[in-house]
Amino acid sequence: MAKRIQFARTGGSEVLEFADVAPAEPGPGEVRVANRAIGLNFIDIYFRTGLYPVPSLPSGLGTEGAGVVEAVGEGVSHLRPGDRVAYAQGPLGAYAERHTLPAAKVVVLPDAIDFETAAACMLKGLTVQYLLRQTRRLEGGETILFYAAAGGVGSLACQWARELGVKLIGTVSSPEKAELAKRNGAWATIDYTKENVVERVRELTGGERCDVVYDSVGKDTWETSLDCLKPRALMVSFGNSSGPVDGVNIGILNQKGSLFVTRPSLNGYADTRERLETMAAELFEMLESGKVKVDIAQRYPLAEAGKAQEALQGRRTTGSTILIP
Ligand SMILES: NC(=O)c1ccc[n+]([C@@H]2O[C@H](COP(=O)([O-])OP(=O)(O)OC[C@H]3O[C@@H](n4cnc5c(N)ncnc54)[C@H](OP(=O)(O)O)[C@@H]3O)[C@@H](O)[C@H]2O)c1
Repeated sequence: MAKRIQFARTGGSEVLEFADVAPAEPGPGEVRVANRAIGLNFIDIYFRTGLYPVPSLPSGLGTEGAGVVEAVGEGVSHLRPGDRVAYAQGPLGAYAERHTLPAAKVVVLPDAIDFETAAACMLKGLTVQYLLRQTRRLEGGETILFYAAAGGVGSLACQWARELGVKLIGTVSSPEKAELAKRNGAWATIDYTKENVVERVRELTGGERCDVVYDSVGKDTWETSLDCLKPRALMVSFGNSSGPVDGVNIGILNQKGSLFVTRPSLNGYADTRERLETMAAELFEMLESGKVKVDIAQRYPLAEAGKAQEALQGRRTTGSTILIP
């Protein structure tokens, strides 16, 4: 038997149970990973609350982890028992001592990257890769607005943007978070609890505004974000931490300056093993060269996943959070 976090109904963190389950044998094309560290992400909260549907209940939770391959199913050729690996996608159930998932979603870890670092940045770092390098390929010289700049995804985005020569304006909710974002390479920060985001963006850019806005807050910030864009610029709406954006009249893109909008996800970008490997190689290069560092600011035992989620949801975390099985 092995421990895992599961939930039989959606709701608050109290629905999470720490249960004993028999780890699944890997079927064709699958592997079983003995997790050494597990990543905590906002998307886990969307599944727990029911914002995103789960295939069935009771359900496991979590999609990100790092550990050692302990069993390999038929037809898997790129992984062997004993390999050090990491993953960020696949069926829910990463909040567990052992997790069985499609081998195509699992990559071999370079020796220089430890399990905790990998679990803290696979999902968030691959997300930053596609946001900054694929939704639009930033080359340097652009000005961007990035929400939650002191958070898990945001901390990596600040460093990656600095490396590319991109001016990242980060939103934050406290002076401490502003300081952290600045240390990570944000060109400027806006404390939205005290400052008007649109006015500050106009001031900082001499009235020009941004080439791209990366908005993970959703419902509360949609229109503010559109007002921070130059004509014909790109709005990347990639999260719902305040609730989903809905009821949008597409004409608003015309009114705000012939804007482009995309609502991307990691699964839409790392949708083949080849694409995942290419994106992971770029992330690992950023880590191994020290251009991007992962700040694991919170660690919780796996059994306390609910407490960890409450802290993330309550804006009390910075950087990445991991669970230790
Ligand atoms: N589409 C994708 O592929 C993808 C992949 C990964 C993550 N995401 C999204 O990216 C966002 C960041 O994820 P993360 O796991 O790294 O979390 P995080 O940024 O570490 O934590 C969320 C942060 O969002 C800010 N926030 C603003 N409004 C909030 C609200 N109403 N409730 C809670 N937090 C709020 C808070 O920072 P302040 O206190 O500074 O405002 C909070 O610390 C999430 O929205 C997530 O869904 C999307």
